[in-house]
Amino acid sequence: MRIKPIINSFDLQKRVLELSKEIEKDYEELYIIGLLNGAFMFVGDLARHMNKNVYIDFMKVSSYTGDKSSHFNVVCDININIKDKDVIIVDDILDTGKTLSKVKEIILSKNPKSLKLCTLLDKPSRREVDIRADYVGFEIEDRFVVGYGLDYNGFGRNLNFIAEIEL
Ligand code: IMP
Ligand code: MG
Repeated sequence: MRIKPIINSFDLQKRVLELSKEIEKDYEELYIIGLLNGAFMFVGDLARHMNKNVYIDFMKVSSYTGDKSSHFNVVCDININIKDKDVIIVDDILDTGKTLSKVKEIILSKNPKSLKLCTLLDKPSRREVDIRADYVGFEIEDRFVVGYGLDYNGFGRNLNFIAEIEL
């Protein structure tokens, strides 16, 4: 399999630091919910630059396959209490938007004080449901990408840059 780097590690780290500072200034205390597995690296780097009270937990949900929305379910839920807290959901990539809109619904049902969405990558041209992220690292074209947490059948998750897959 060939890959073509599109965001190098320097630009990635620079943007993650910027995002971290942008988010930090909006909060005194923040509850970060990362979506596994894709967001594990992003959450780590995002949070380590913040000098506020930050609480971190992760949620794992099963993906949609095709258009069978009934396949969505929570594989592993958070176990911190976010009621009346300022919460931000962090994901690796916003594609059709189905995953994040479902997760948003679930998190809202736990009655946080506020809820915002953050995604490292955004493919706006692929959107199928009406959702947008409050904090976006990079907008990208409709290409399948790997690296920095994102994978293709398990491949590429550990890379410290983002690359397009050339199938
Ligand atoms: P959505 O529900 O269509 O927005 O899908 C979001 C999820 O699909 C992401 O959290 C990723 O796990 C996966 N995904 C979408 N596009 C890509 C990609 O280009 N590379 C790797 N994973 C992707
Ligand atoms: Mg994901």
